[in-house]
Amino acid sequence: MSVIRSQIVGCGSYLPAHAMSNAELSKRVDTTDEWIVERTGIKNRHIAAEGELTSDMALAAARAALANAQMDAQELDTIILATTTPDNTFPASATTVQAKLGLHHGAAFDIQAVCSGFVYGLTIADTFIKAGQGKNILVIGAETFSRLLDWDDRTTCVLFGDGAGAVVVRAGTGEGSNADRGILTAHIHSDGRYKEKLYVDGGPSSTGTVGHVRMEGREVFRHAVVNIAETITESLEATGLSVADIDWFVPHQANRRILEGTAKRIGLPLEKIIMTVGEHGNTSAASVPLALDQGVRDGRIKKGDMVLMEAMGGGFTWGSVLARW
Ligand code: ACO
Repeated sequence: MSVIRSQIVGCGSYLPAHAMSNAELSKRVDTTDEWIVERTGIKNRHIAAEGELTSDMALAAARAALANAQMDAQELDTIILATTTPDNTFPASATTVQAKLGLHHGAAFDIQAVCSGFVYGLTIADTFIKAGQGKNILVIGAETFSRLLDWDDRTTCVLFGDGAGAVVVRAGTGEGSNADRGILTAHIHSDGRYKEKLYVDGGPSSTGTVGHVRMEGREVFRHAVVNIAETITESLEATGLSVADIDWFVPHQANRRILEGTAKRIGLPLEKIIMTVGEHGNTSAASVPLALDQGVRDGRIKKGDMVLMEAMGGGFTWGSVLARW
C-alpha cells in the first residue's frame, strides 16, 4: 500500500554571536554558575544583538536548511514560523522571511505554542502534506526570548536564550510501515487550566505592552516530566514501536534535569539524548530544531535513524513527533 509520508529532507540553524556565560549573568543578577549548572545544566545562552530580529535569525536558519536540502526557495509552497517573539504584533514574521527569500507565492504564517511551537509546526506540516495542501514546507522555530525576560528576576532570566532552527519537509511516499522514511506519527496537546503556571504578564489586548515571563518553576517541572513521558508513550503506541527502537531522542531543551528525569521514566539510555541545553539554554520554539541540526551536523543522526522529538511549554502545550530520518 502506498501512503504519503512527510519527509524531513534538510535542516539548519542559527545562533546569535554573543554567548552569555553564567559568570557574565552573575554580574547582572544575584546568581552563581554553580547554582545554574546544578539546577539546570545551563552554562551559556546566546543573546541577539541590538537590532537583530526574530525574522533575521529565522531567515538564516531557513537558508541553511534549504542549502542542506539542496533545494531552491522557489520550490517552497508553505512557510510555518513557530515563535512567541514575532518582530511585530502583526504581520506574521513568516511573511518577512517569505519576502526575504524572494517568494511571491504560497502561504506564510506564524504559529504560537511557546516552547512546543516547533512540534506543533511539524504536526501542521505533516497534516498539510497528507491533505494535499502543501508539498514543500519550511518549518522554522525562532525566538528572541531575551526580550521577554525580566533581567532582575533570577528565577527566570538564567534559563532562556535566543536562536533559530529550521527544517524542510517534503511530500514523499512510503509503504505504510515503520520502515518508511518520514514522519510516522505526530501528536499535540494543550490544557489551558495551567496557563498561569508559565505566562507573560502583558500583551496587545491586555496591557498594550510586551510583558515579561512569569513562572512557577517547580509546578512546570512536575508537569513537564509527566506530560512528556505520556506523549512519548502515545507516539510509541501509535506505531507499535518500543523505547529500544529510538535511535535519537531530540527533546525540547528546557533543563537537563527534566531531560534526565524523562529518560529515566521511560527507560531510555542518556547517551541517546541530543542535549544542547548547556550551550543554548532554553530557546523555546527554536530548541528542538537547533538540537536536531547539531545532531545531524556532528554525524550522530544518520539516514534511516528513528528520531523522537518532543516539547512542552506554556499553556500548557506539549506534543511529540516520531520520524525516520
Ligand atoms: N540563582 C540562585 N538562586 C536562585 C536562583 C538563581 N538563578 N533562582 C532561584 N533561586 C533560589 C530561590 O530563591 C530559592 O531560594 P530560597 O530557598 O532561599 O527561597 C532556591 O533557589 C530554590 O528555588 P526553587 O525555585 O525551589 O528551585 P528549584 O529547585 O525548583 O529550581 C528551576 C528552579 C531551575 C526553575 C526548576 O524549578 C525548573 O527547572 N523548573 C522548570 C522550569 C522550566 O524549565 N521552564 C522553562 C519553560 S517550560 C519548559 O520549557 C518545559
